[in-house]
Amino acid sequence: MSLRLRLSLLLGVLNLGFLLVLLALLLGNQRASIAEEITAAHRVTVQLLGTAAQTSGLTGPAPLVMETFLRRLGRVRANEIRLYDSRGELRYVSPPSHYKQSRQAPEPFARLMTPQLEATGFDLPGARLLIVPDASRAVLDAWDDLTSLVLLWLGFFVVLQVSLLLFLRHLLRPAETLLVGLDQLAHGRFATRLAESPVSEWRELTSGFNRVAAALERGQAEQRQLVLTTEALAANREVTRFIEAGIEAERKRLARELHDELGQSVTAIRLIATSLARHAGAGAEIAAGAGKINEVAASLYDGVQRIVRELRPAVLERSDLAAALEEIAREWRQQHPDIALTLATRGDCSHLGEALTLAAFRVVQEALTNVLKHAAARRVDIELCRETGTLGVCVRDDGRGQAAPAGMRRGLAGMRERAALLGGTLAAGAAAEGGFCVTLNLPLNEKETPSS
Ligand SMILES: Nc1ncnc2c1ncn2[C@@H]1O[C@H](COP(=O)(O)OP(=O)(O)OP(=O)(O)O)[C@@H](O)[C@H]1O
Ligand SMILES: [Mg+2]
Repeated sequence: MSLRLRLSLLLGVLNLGFLLVLLALLLGNQRASIAEEITAAHRVTVQLLGTAAQTSGLTGPAPLVMETFLRRLGRVRANEIRLYDSRGELRYVSPPSHYKQSRQAPEPFARLMTPQLEATGFDLPGARLLIVPDASRAVLDAWDDLTSLVLLWLGFFVVLQVSLLLFLRHLLRPAETLLVGLDQLAHGRFATRLAESPVSEWRELTSGFNRVAAALERGQAEQRQLVLTTEALAANREVTRFIEAGIEAERKRLARELHDELGQSVTAIRLIATSLARHAGAGAEIAAGAGKINEVAASLYDGVQRIVRELRPAVLERSDLAAALEEIAREWRQQHPDIALTLATRGDCSHLGEALTLAAFRVVQEALTNVLKHAAARRVDIELCRETGTLGVCVRDDGRGQAAPAGMRRGLAGMRERAALLGGTLAAGAAAEGGFCVTLNLPLNEKETPSS
């Protein structure tokens, strides 16, 4: 049931209750006043006609004198006067009232309102006079008053209900607008705004609605922006992945070329130099030159091998991270004996899959290059830890901590990119206990890694 209908029903019931109480009070009052009026009128009439009855026999035959008197008297208010002869036949009855002639109050109402008064009779010589109280006019008056009141109430009630319905319709219109607005929001049209209502309660509601809609609109715009940014990021990642894959392939190719082409050539030079020295005979100078060529070629060979290892350590092909880092550590200790390097491995880090192994390897490589470039450290510790679902790599030095940035600074950004591409994280910065620390965490797909 609508609010409008409920309110008008409530008001209708209250109004009806009020009318019924009013009617009950009025009926009580009217009844008492009719009884009072009819009793008084009857008493006066009885006194008047009693005196007339006593004196009627003095001037002639009593029935005739009385009849003449009564005909002259006519109608007496609220009483009916009858004169009977000695045989009991009606000689005279007072004429009916002209007031509201031929109209009567409804029978049940008349029965309720008519007072129970006895008729009064006088016996005359040869006749009987009967005075009967008649409340019909007073009852009719009361009936007319009540019907006027009820009609007036009905008119008032109809006007009240119609105005109430119109007023409520006007008052509740913002609720309909609000419903339409909510429907718009439910359909995702967050640009919807409601006009301010002149009613303060509605105004608060509409401005609340507008605030919510504005917040939703902002949220929608941010969501859209987020989707765009995520898409752009995903596209960037794809490009980075592509570039990284290209660089790795190029490193691989370069390492192979250096190893196969330059390595073969340098080996050939060394063989020629050795044979030249063997066949130099007495030419001591030529033998010394050949020996020198052999020496230079040997160091060139070592250099090439080192570059090949740096470009692409052979152990990486087997996805053995622990072995690849061991190789880096060995080389580091040879080249930088003044900076102590430790490598600790926990868990099996030998079958992590190519992508993961490569990412962790490159991060350690760049972290060690940074130690040389920025840290001025005496010691570097590398920790490798494989736990359920995660691979953790930590490179910590005891150097100066965060050094002033220099150059293009692609290193840490590249590390972060590598970590993000594999769904991992990378943290780098000065450690609380001194030095610099790079921590890489990569999620492991336990089902895939052993087979890859
Ligand atoms: N081990 C470290 N000790 C002290 N500072 C470091 C260390 N590693 C990195 N940093 C600081 O972090 C900055 C960023 O390092 P990042 O590797 O990104 O750049 P870079 O080494 O300066 O240049 P790039 O790696 O691109 O050649 C460095 O410039 C340096 O200031
Ligand atoms: Mg760097």
